[in-house]
Amino acid sequence: MPDFIVTPWEVSGEVDYDLLIQEFGIEAIDEKLLFNLKEITKEIHPYLRRKIFFAHRDFKWILQEYKKGNPFYLYTGRGPSGNIHLGHLLPWIFTKWIQEKFNVDLWFQLTDDEKFLFNQSITLEETHNFGYDNALDVIALGFNPKKTYIFSDIDLGNTFYRNALKIAKKITYSTIKATFGLDNSANIGQIFYTSIQTVPAILKSLIEEKNVPCLIPHAVDQDPHFRLSRDVLPKLGYYKPASIQCVFLPSLQESGKMSASVENTAIFTKDEPDVVKRKVNNAFTGGQANAKLQRELGGNPSVCSVYKYHFMLFTLDDNEIKKIQSKCIGGELLCGECKKDLIQKINKFLSEHQKQREKAKDVLEDYLLKEKVDLKSLINEKKRKWNY
Ligand code: TYM
Repeated sequence: MPDFIVTPWEVSGEVDYDLLIQEFGIEAIDEKLLFNLKEITKEIHPYLRRKIFFAHRDFKWILQEYKKGNPFYLYTGRGPSGNIHLGHLLPWIFTKWIQEKFNVDLWFQLTDDEKFLFNQSITLEETHNFGYDNALDVIALGFNPKKTYIFSDIDLGNTFYRNALKIAKKITYSTIKATFGLDNSANIGQIFYTSIQTVPAILKSLIEEKNVPCLIPHAVDQDPHFRLSRDVLPKLGYYKPASIQCVFLPSLQESGKMSASVENTAIFTKDEPDVVKRKVNNAFTGGQANAKLQRELGGNPSVCSVYKYHFMLFTLDDNEIKKIQSKCIGGELLCGECKKDLIQKINKFLSEHQKQREKAKDVLEDYLLKEKVDLKSLINEKKRKWNY
């Protein structure tokens, strides 16, 4: 049995991604696929070169269809139960790159319903509001406003309920238990929920009244949902959604992913410079016990969370990262210096992100989709009409 867990609701232990490829039945992204992609995009994002985006389902098919003149749209999302941390940004930064390179729509789902059902301590009102707050981080990354639709599940309740019903009817309780490990103590909303996360994979097909390919970028924890989507949607006459999947930005401590529930091991987009400094200075590194030993023996970047932050987000230049790696191994670079460099880079990024986040407040409504189904005004309209 592997000593790690990856589900949409829990990621723990040291994840073995090669094993996960086998277990989940996803495909590794290989050189041939990158070659095909580069024919269209002209360059390859560092996340692909560095195998941060490492696996996919049907991405080859997405490219083939695109070349034939049948473009796809992007779908990704967020479960709004708190503030956004740097790990969440990883799939979104890549999604933005795909949007730019292919000039396609992005449909962004805020699953307030999911967080309400799975998190005992949050009210529906709270998660709904977190959704709007989290949307500011998405907008701050610079998604094309003309091609980006952000929506909360409860704001699109009509469309979601209609379509989730059709999907739910094709999924049995035993499939849900086997896929998500839910047991008899699960509430019945949790059992139903995955049908909601499938709906955005057909939204553009519904609107255009023809099948439109859908590509879902996400970290590998969300794959179980889309495995089910791929089983069900062809039964309803739709394409299987394709996906492209990334590894987790690790926690600043020794193991596990960056998680909002462990405050001090995650860097949030709202963190102030001194908070970032404290968190990085307390991070787990691959360094030796003291500077003398570090100079003699060198450090170990492969287990170092500081190195991983450079590698996955803040030092995307290949020559620069090679230098950090070799100087660390050779004992030339001490952890203090390497942390200082990372702190500067994170704070530079966050200062710009926080500015953009503020500006996003003025344009939030331009991105949001809402169905205005308000029962009270429907009743009032009827009353007016009949004059009672
Ligand atoms: P959520 O809010 O847990 O996470 C949002 C996105 O961030 C990814 N992610 C991470 N990526 C890298 N490193 C990490 N440490 C890390 N932690 C989280 C998640 O995989 C996700 O892509 N149910 C979903 C919301 C959702 C969704 C979707 C996500 C609805 N539809 C379609 C992706 C695609 C959720 O709760 O995500």
